[in-house]
Amino acid sequence: MIALGFESSCDETSVAVLEDDRTLANLVSSQDFHKKYGGVVPELSSRAHLARVAPLTRDALVQAGVELADVDLIAATAGPGLIGALLVGFTFAKGLAVAERKPFVPVNHVEAHFFSGFLMDEKPEYPFLALAVSGGHTMLVLVEDELTLTRLGGTVDDAAGEAFDKGAKTLGLPYPGGPNIQKTAERGDPERYPFPIAELKSKYDFSFSGVKTALLRQVQILRTGNDPLAEETVADLAASYQRSIVEALIRKTDAAIAEFAPKSVSLVGGVAANKPLREAFTRTTAARGAKAVVPSIQYCGDNAAMIAWRGLALHRAGERFSNEYRPFPSFQSRYARDYSDNPR
Ligand code: KG4
Ligand code: ZN
Repeated sequence: MIALGFESSCDETSVAVLEDDRTLANLVSSQDFHKKYGGVVPELSSRAHLARVAPLTRDALVQAGVELADVDLIAATAGPGLIGALLVGFTFAKGLAVAERKPFVPVNHVEAHFFSGFLMDEKPEYPFLALAVSGGHTMLVLVEDELTLTRLGGTVDDAAGEAFDKGAKTLGLPYPGGPNIQKTAERGDPERYPFPIAELKSKYDFSFSGVKTALLRQVQILRTGNDPLAEETVADLAASYQRSIVEALIRKTDAAIAEFAPKSVSLVGGVAANKPLREAFTRTTAARGAKAVVPSIQYCGDNAAMIAWRGLALHRAGERFSNEYRPFPSFQSRYARDYSDNPR
C-alpha cells in the first residue's frame, strides 16, 4: 500500500510517501527563521506551512515516482501541536483525500513518534517500551500492539527538549538549546554542580522545573556584576545540567524496563539526537537484556514518514475515521490508556 503523509504540528512542514515500511520520499522544510525570536511564533509558523505544503507535496510525489492516483491513503497529523499550524496540513491533506476519494487517517503526532522505529531495518518487537522526548513532549509508554498503548508517565511541567532550550537561554547559548548544550558540555565537568533529579509521586512521571530553577540560581550566584560567566564555568554548568536531565530520563526508563520486561525499547523524538542520552540508553537497555531501537536522525525529529507509517498501520488494523474528525492541540488518543501506580 502507498501512503501519503503530512506533518505540520510545529515548525517543520513535512510530506512523505511510503510504500508499506519503505520510505520513498520524506521531505522536511524547517522554519529556521524562528531562531531570531528565541522560540516558535505560532502565527508565523501557520503562514510558513501554508506557503510550503503544496510545493513540498509535489516534490515528494516526484521524488517517490508516484502519481496521486496511485496513493492508497492520506494521513495527517491531527495533534497535539499548535492549532493554527495543525489546521494547515490537516485541512490540505483532507481536501486532497476528499477530492481524490482516498481514505483519510488523522494521526496523533506523539503516537507516530512511538512507532518511528518501524521505519528502520531493525524494528521494535512487541511489546516494546518507547521514550518520546522532544521540544513539545516527554512520555514513557508501553506498546503491546498497534492499538493497545499504556501511557506510563509524562512530564508534569516542561518537556525534556524545552528544558534543554530554556537552560541554554539561561546560559546565553543560542536556540535551539539542545545541540548547543551538548556541544558546550563536551568541554565541561558533569559532576561539578549536583543539580537535582526530581522524584515524583507517580513513578514514571518527569519534572524539569526544579533543575531549570537550580541552574538559574547557580548562574545568579556565580555571576558577579555584569561580567559574563567564564567559558569553563558555562561548560561545567552545561555538562551538569545535561547530566541531570539524561539521568532523570534513564532512571525512569530503567525502572519501566525492570517492571514490564519489554522485548524492545525505543528512544524517539528530537532529543534522541543527544549523544550522552543515546549512549546511556543503549547501555541501560543492554544491561536489562532488551533490544534498543533508536531511529536515525531523519526519523527522530518531526517528519511525515512516521505519520504515514502510523496512518497505514491504523488503516490496516481496520480503523476508520469520520469526516467530522477535528485537530486537537493537546494529547488525546483512542488507543492510549493511563497507567496507575495504585490500580484498584
Ligand atoms: O522532535 P523535535 O524536532 O521537535 C518537537 O516536536 O519538539 O525536537 C526538537 C527538540 C528541541 O527542544 C531541541 O533542543 C532538542 O529537540 N534537541 C536536542 C538535541 N537535538 C535536538 N536536545 C538535546 N541534545 C541534542 N543533541
Ligand atoms: Zn515531535
